[in-house]
Amino acid sequence: MEFSQRLDLFGDEVFAALNARRRELEAAGRKVFDLSVGTPDFEPPAHVVEALRASAADPANWRYSLHDTDELLAAVCSYYRDRYGVDGITPDMVMSCRGTQEGLVHVCAALVNPGDVALVPDPCYPVFQNATLLAGGRPAYYRLTAEHGFLPHLADVPAEVADAARYIIVSLPANPVGSVGTPEVYEEVIAFAREHDLVVIHDNAYSDIVFDGPAGGSFLSHPGALEVGVEFLSLSKSFNVTGARLSFLVGRPDVVAAARKLRSQIDFGMFYPEQAAAVAALTGPRDSVERQRLLYQERRDALCDGLEAIGWERPNAHGSMFVWARIPGGRQDSSAFALELMERSGVIVTPGASFGPSGEGYVRMALVMPPEQLHEAVDAIAAAGM
Ligand SMILES: Cc1ncc(COP(=O)(O)O)c(C=O)c1O
Repeated sequence: MEFSQRLDLFGDEVFAALNARRRELEAAGRKVFDLSVGTPDFEPPAHVVEALRASAADPANWRYSLHDTDELLAAVCSYYRDRYGVDGITPDMVMSCRGTQEGLVHVCAALVNPGDVALVPDPCYPVFQNATLLAGGRPAYYRLTAEHGFLPHLADVPAEVADAARYIIVSLPANPVGSVGTPEVYEEVIAFAREHDLVVIHDNAYSDIVFDGPAGGSFLSHPGALEVGVEFLSLSKSFNVTGARLSFLVGRPDVVAAARKLRSQIDFGMFYPEQAAAVAALTGPRDSVERQRLLYQERRDALCDGLEAIGWERPNAHGSMFVWARIPGGRQDSSAFALELMERSGVIVTPGASFGPSGEGYVRMALVMPPEQLHEAVDAIAAAGM
């Protein structure tokens, strides 16, 4: 049978090859360090787990929820005020979604018509490109390169491309490149969006994993942001609840309303116990989040210091749970390098090319192990002569 051409938009050959070989190595008893997947190894806070458990014990909470509860919407609004200093978020500016990945697919579908252009970073978290493709849009890439600190440099985007585009996706701290936003960058993005009449979609998955300074903020805190943009607030990484799929689209009300209209054809609302867990996370103590940020920083230091000590260039790693490492020796073939690295050292990394053409020459490593194990991983890389 023939399936839709939509399925041809996505390739997963490299991951399939890495996974198949990884299983063989493990079956043969080889020690493997998996730094390829960004799943946190930390636990969710006890008060969040308890809120979900208590809510799930009530049979009334197993019905269709249909809507976000008033309590949940109020919790997001107060979180924006207290955590990010953003006043003026009202319940109509908030919609829950089953993770940022799902929300992005739907907000992009609410913004583009087939053939429309959308600006997407290269390299990027793959759903930024794929959500655009699924909506029938045509991604146009703006590059994140070492030359500009792996930050958006919008002066490079041709004016006709910017004028044609419906939205620009920005995400800082950035997966995979590990750069962190500055007020100047956000001001530039907002001015660019105004000039070219674009919606800004900011993905803020890592605002709680920023190194060498205070915790990160929100795009929506910058003057003018609420007129041009929306932001995804994900609880996944801050609270280690990746499996619960707790994320929110927040910001410009007409964009949120459009996404809500589309999603309401597909989804019957977030499970009440998940809503309760989200309220607990958003309104509860934040000490575990801050502790965790410092633990990620120790991991970042262990991995970057270690790689530098064995002759790698110091990776870019200012925020997110990833470090972005240039392959030593000027090699460009990141997929072949990742396979060879796994074969010879047992260390599994993600090839930079899987995040876009500008990722070639780099690999991404996830900070998903304590420093001692990261030291061992670096020793294994050194022992393999890589
Ligand atoms: C940039 C970025 N956004 C979003 C997510 C996922 O968020 P969620 O769990 O809310 O789908 C990730 C996870 O790796 C990510 O790297």
